[in-house]
Amino acid sequence: MPSYIDETAERYVRAVGPEHDDLHAEMAAFADEHDFPIIGPDAGALLRSYAAATQAEQVFEFGSGFGYSAYWFLQGMADDGRIVLTEIDEAELAKGEEFLSHAGLADRATFEHGDAMAIAHDYAGPFDVVLIDHQKSRYADAFDLIRDDIAPGGVVIADNVLYGGHDYHDSLDYVEGTGDLPDDENVRGIVSYLETVREADGFHTAIVPVGSGLAVTVRDGA
Ligand SMILES: C[S@@+](CC[C@H](N)C(=O)[O-])C[C@H]1O[C@@H](n2cnc3c(N)ncnc32)[C@H](O)[C@@H]1O
Repeated sequence: MPSYIDETAERYVRAVGPEHDDLHAEMAAFADEHDFPIIGPDAGALLRSYAAATQAEQVFEFGSGFGYSAYWFLQGMADDGRIVLTEIDEAELAKGEEFLSHAGLADRATFEHGDAMAIAHDYAGPFDVVLIDHQKSRYADAFDLIRDDIAPGGVVIADNVLYGGHDYHDSLDYVEGTGDLPDDENVRGIVSYLETVREADGFHTAIVPVGSGLAVTVRDGA
């Protein structure tokens, strides 16, 4: 994965930053083995922090893979907090259930196989934290779908706003107003998402360049 920081800074962050516990290390090894794009420890630890800061009772994920990001959330959430994992790939979801069972956490998770957008319609919130990490072309629609279900002070986190199936350099000229938007669905999806959250009344967004880049959008009114 490319990085926004240079190699030395990355080594420094790895040396002083959050570490994997045994289960996260096992999941990361599984991701390496299968070339699967997990959110990684720096972004993952931020998910844990937001879950802890909001004392999250309810978390929803668009695109859960085999539960790596969900495990970070569960480490920060309220003791009785629950998380909904959604995943289009049944085998990945089953692997997630297996991993979270090993940690004794599967009973705090709901494993939903299918299209995350369709599944989201069945949940009313309020959500303390939502992770958007599925198809970039649908990020903005995902935000529009759940924005009214975010608790006051709740947080929507979108992964891959800098990298991950696209590279922010591709839209730099466009966002600076000096060039066109490339005809690429991932690039367009991310730009559209960032425009959507920036214009959303009652929400404030910060771009946090950890991992592949997170957009952290907080709902006013805590
Ligand atoms: C980047 S991975 C998620 C990684 C996970 N959040 C983590 O860090 O552990 C994206 C996942 O979204 C899934 N996905 C793609 N489209 C989806 C959809 N419409 N509904 C649910 N899952 C979807 C993919 O199968 C893939 O496993």
